Amino acid sequence: MRAVQILGDISSPKIVTTNSIPEPRPQGSEILIRVHAAGITGDEVLWPEPYNCPTRIPGHDVSGVIVAFGSEYDGPLTVGQEVVAFISAGKGGQGQADYVICHANEVAAKSTSISHEEAAALPIPFLTAWEAIFDHGKGITEPGMRILVTGASGAVGRLAVQVASLHGAYVIALASARHHGTLKKLGAQEVIDYNTPGWESRVKDVALVFDTVGGDILTKSWETINENDGTIVTVGDPSPPWAFERCQAAEAAKWPNVKYIYFIVSPNTERLSKAAEMIDAGAITPLEVKSFPFREAEKAWSYARQRGRGHKVVIDFVTET
Ligand SMILES: NC(=O)c1ccc[n+]([C@@H]2O[C@H](COP(=O)([O-])OP(=O)(O)OC[C@H]3O[C@@H](n4cnc5c(N)ncnc54)[C@H](OP(=O)(O)O)[C@@H]3O)[C@@H](O)[C@H]2O)c1
Repeated sequence: MRAVQILGDISSPKIVTTNSIPEPRPQGSEILIRVHAAGITGDEVLWPEPYNCPTRIPGHDVSGVIVAFGSEYDGPLTVGQEVVAFISAGKGGQGQADYVICHANEVAAKSTSISHEEAAALPIPFLTAWEAIFDHGKGITEPGMRILVTGASGAVGRLAVQVASLHGAYVIALASARHHGTLKKLGAQEVIDYNTPGWESRVKDVALVFDTVGGDILTKSWETINENDGTIVTVGDPSPPWAFERCQAAEAAKWPNVKYIYFIVSPNTERLSKAAEMIDAGAITPLEVKSFPFREAEKAWSYARQRGRGHKVVIDFVTET
């Protein structure tokens, strides 16, 4: 089958395509999906998993059709059904290929109102935003709770802005000025340009920072937090030095009551189903996507790694087969 691969190593990754990977066969309760479209998270080249995986196939987000089950599958899904999947981070992707094996806890029925390309853009961004806000953050504990979303114009950021504002939060979106109009339409009450020097001193008393950028932006976001009981949740890559409880954040000396966590998103079928329901009900606006056919996968990856795109990049595995 055809697939994308990340060769090289984390310091010099090289994206290539191949058509000589054996088609996988589902075992036990596994599900085999014919991939129609697969999303790209450009920073996946910074994650260790693809380099540890023998096939070197990246891609955690897919939309497609079920073609077979392992003999022990006894769940509700059926052959021929259109589905989306988030393939667990630890498996090193595998989604950017004609076929992918998934576990039942990674797969849910696809939204009926959007294309495979749009559906393939959503699993990681939705699941990450939801987990950040409701599991690692405190949820929206009162109407008007102040949330700062950094990288708000990105895929995860746009979903976080929408999910938080739908649940009654007062959302402050940090993004370059050209995205401010869109972010207001998605529910942000306040928009701030990270190019404005000293932006962090304009934002006060934030209950939850959801940072999707890391680095300098994460460091500055400590200035905005409610110092008595604020929480900083980050997924920005590369991960901060204190991720995985390796050490204390340097900022904790000044803000000892602020909680902070870096996490890796988990698969969750119920949440994927919820995302599809919210999309079909019009409660959530899908991400804008730019789709590339498989033969342009290398171009798709280099585009996906550029700053300032404003939309998610997906690879189309069906056109031109
Ligand atoms: N740990 C996890 O489980 C997990 C899950 C999902 C994603 N992630 C990570 O989360 C990050 C965001 O993912 P994504 O898919 O939303 O990426 P994305 O669509 O590329 O969005 C990235 C956003 O960050 C902004 N940004 C990048 N560098 C910046 C800087 N130096 N200063 C200010 N803003 C900056 C971009 O703004 P511009 O448009 O201005 O460039 C863009 O809005 C990535 O690093 C990804 O690897 C981690």
